Amino acid sequence: MNLVSSSCIARHYILVGTRARLMLMAVLAVCMLILVLFSCRRQIRNLNQSEYCRVISTPVSSNWIKQFKQHDYKIFSQNGEDGILLWIFANIGTMHQPPHFVEFGVQNGKQCNTRFFREHLGWQGLMMDVNNANLTINLHREMISPKNINNLLAKCETPTTIDLLSIDIDFDDYFVWKSILQANRFHARVVVIEFNYEIPPNENRVVDPNLDSRRWTHTNFFGAGILALAALGRAHGYTLVYGEKNAVNLFFVRTCVLLQQGVFDDVPSVEQLHVSKPARQWKHAPETDKSRTWIWNDTVWIP
Ligand SMILES: *[C@@H]1O[C@H](CO)[C@@H](O)[C@H](O)[C@H]1NC(C)=O
Ligand SMILES: *[C@@H]1O[C@H](CO)[C@@H](O)[C@H](O)[C@H]1NC(C)=O
Repeated sequence: MNLVSSSCIARHYILVGTRARLMLMAVLAVCMLILVLFSCRRQIRNLNQSEYCRVISTPVSSNWIKQFKQHDYKIFSQNGEDGILLWIFANIGTMHQPPHFVEFGVQNGKQCNTRFFREHLGWQGLMMDVNNANLTINLHREMISPKNINNLLAKCETPTTIDLLSIDIDFDDYFVWKSILQANRFHARVVVIEFNYEIPPNENRVVDPNLDSRRWTHTNFFGAGILALAALGRAHGYTLVYGEKNAVNLFFVRTCVLLQQGVFDDVPSVEQLHVSKPARQWKHAPETDKSRTWIWNDTVWIP
């Protein structure tokens, strides 16, 4: 009797001891998890400040935001993107050594926004196109969508910070950029993106890419207006600084860089930046299919 009860008591103590040890271990594990998460968050926040907001060089000109027109010239780009990008990076510097870019919609890479930087300034990076591949220049054939873009970037070992991101895929460019911004995994300092100049600067609208499987059918139903892109950029810490004179591309720079350089107040308004008459005349046929409609105010513009 005594023996039984004492062995019960012993078992009871062993059980209590095990339970206490398990609980202690669980508490410790939770503490460590909290610590790890906390330090990760702090790293991300530090990255915010030290990486893409960091002022790397003093501007060539204190008035550089107002001097784009004279730098709007073409080398290998479709329009004046080469000169504009050279001017931006001359004034804000680059983060990586060598500087890093990502560009999609490059065709075979002969006429694109990063060729001059890659061939003559030693920049490195990733190119993607729906029809072309060329591994000697790191050009991959991929069908980019808002759903797959972040995984594609991860698959191609893209660093979390990028000096230049260039988007020109002729249809849902806005949503691909939005997907990168919302995922918050890859952070570019400068963004070039195609827009639709036929949309007036007071109309915040963008194609609805989910209406049908057709993409661009050579009509004016494609892309996003200047206000929609400016609103998306602003909501995620980017400021529209210029629209090139052929009215194909818009240029965005991290707002924090402009603030630190004291040039943010020099940025013209969206109306002023809108080019409604391209220097080299071009226009697409009007869309006749009335079922193809626009999404309005996808990102609310806060003036
Ligand atoms: C791949 O790129 C290299 C470097 O620009 C070029 O010389 C070559 O012709 C390209 N190959 C193809 C198949 O386009
Ligand atoms: C979009 O927002 C603007 C400004 O708030 C408003 O005037 C306009 O009616 C909205 N358009 C649509 C279609 O909701």
